[in-house]
Amino acid sequence: VRVSGWQAWADATACRLHGAQRWRAPRAFAPDRDGGGVTGAYDGRPVTSFASNDYLGLTHHPAVVAAAHDALDRDGAGSGSARLIVGARAVHDDLERELAAWKHEEAAVVFPTGFAANIGALSAFGGHDVLVCSDELNHASIIDGCRLAHSDVAVYRHRDYDELATLLDRSSAARRMVVSDSVFSMDGDLADIEALAKLCRAHDALLVLDEAHAVLGPDPTVALDGVAHLRVGTLSKTLGALGGFVAGPRAFTDLLVNLARSYIFTTAPTPADTAAALAALRVLRSSEGDALVERLAGNVARLAPHATSPIVPVLCGDDGVALDTAAALLDRGLLVPAIRPPTVPRGTARLRIACSAAHTETQIDALRSALDDARPGWC
Ligand SMILES: Cc1ncc(COP(=O)(O)O)c(C=O)c1O
Repeated sequence: VRVSGWQAWADATACRLHGAQRWRAPRAFAPDRDGGGVTGAYDGRPVTSFASNDYLGLTHHPAVVAAAHDALDRDGAGSGSARLIVGARAVHDDLERELAAWKHEEAAVVFPTGFAANIGALSAFGGHDVLVCSDELNHASIIDGCRLAHSDVAVYRHRDYDELATLLDRSSAARRMVVSDSVFSMDGDLADIEALAKLCRAHDALLVLDEAHAVLGPDPTVALDGVAHLRVGTLSKTLGALGGFVAGPRAFTDLLVNLARSYIFTTAPTPADTAAALAALRVLRSSEGDALVERLAGNVARLAPHATSPIVPVLCGDDGVALDTAAALLDRGLLVPAIRPPTVPRGTARLRIACSAAHTETQIDALRSALDDARPGWC
């Protein structure tokens, strides 16, 4: 049988990825019934997971699960099509209204994922006469959104706002945009929102802030006053469901509905996901939510006193070292993913710990002592 060119290409590509220790495949994770999402069986082995972005443990919250069940019974499993075609369910509108209120914005638009929200916002507001300035450690969905913006894209060094100022000063583009994670997803460090806002105000640049991981802050509301902005968020991390959103002035969000291809040409989030996110948002905005955030902050401080977000990286450098360290932790029943290029720059492979309010102090202490053994001086 003649092997097709595509088969040969697939084999060679897989071989190259294996050779570079970059081959990946998801393994099975079955959460325990009463483990708050943080304990379960990973490939059949009991583990405590520090891998999930369900920072507040809301995925398993009874009110969130019940809301998803109700929506499923009432509205069915799917949304049928894009909202401009089939119409919005009441739960879509309710969620957008409450997301806008939460963010102190005029309006919000829900997308199927946070990834879709970023590519939708950046492609809709980009164009040939726009300069887009992007932090070098921004999330992949921002990088892809920049590609789809059909704009000049200038990547500035991580959190180097002097370089950003120079780029903005030198630009003769008709419009300028600056895009940044507010909490960087693989490093857990924070953008300086004040500095970004000041530069954007001075250059009349649109600031697109991705707040996917901003469960413990920073809150940019005050800094954004008087700055043209869009706030991108996700329903899949702090809110424990699935979906994304963009919040901002109504004139901007209405334009997204008309221009963002990842809103227009895709089916709306399912009623169950939307209802789950809405219920989670209501928990988050209650005194119970305050307590969960406080608990998460306590867990982060217990694990890594200097961390500024629930994402705690443990730098290994070499891909193999990161994989071996993750394997050593797994042997002790601790699931901490090794993150390798291309997710992070070459030579900066690491473990990425995600803390949750659902972790107990005992679980946090177990991770600490395992890290002390596997990578002394890690913290
Ligand atoms: C900073 C950032 N933005 C956007 C996304 C995409 O969000 P979602 O998983 O909802 O597509 C992620 C997550 O993976 C992220 O880390």
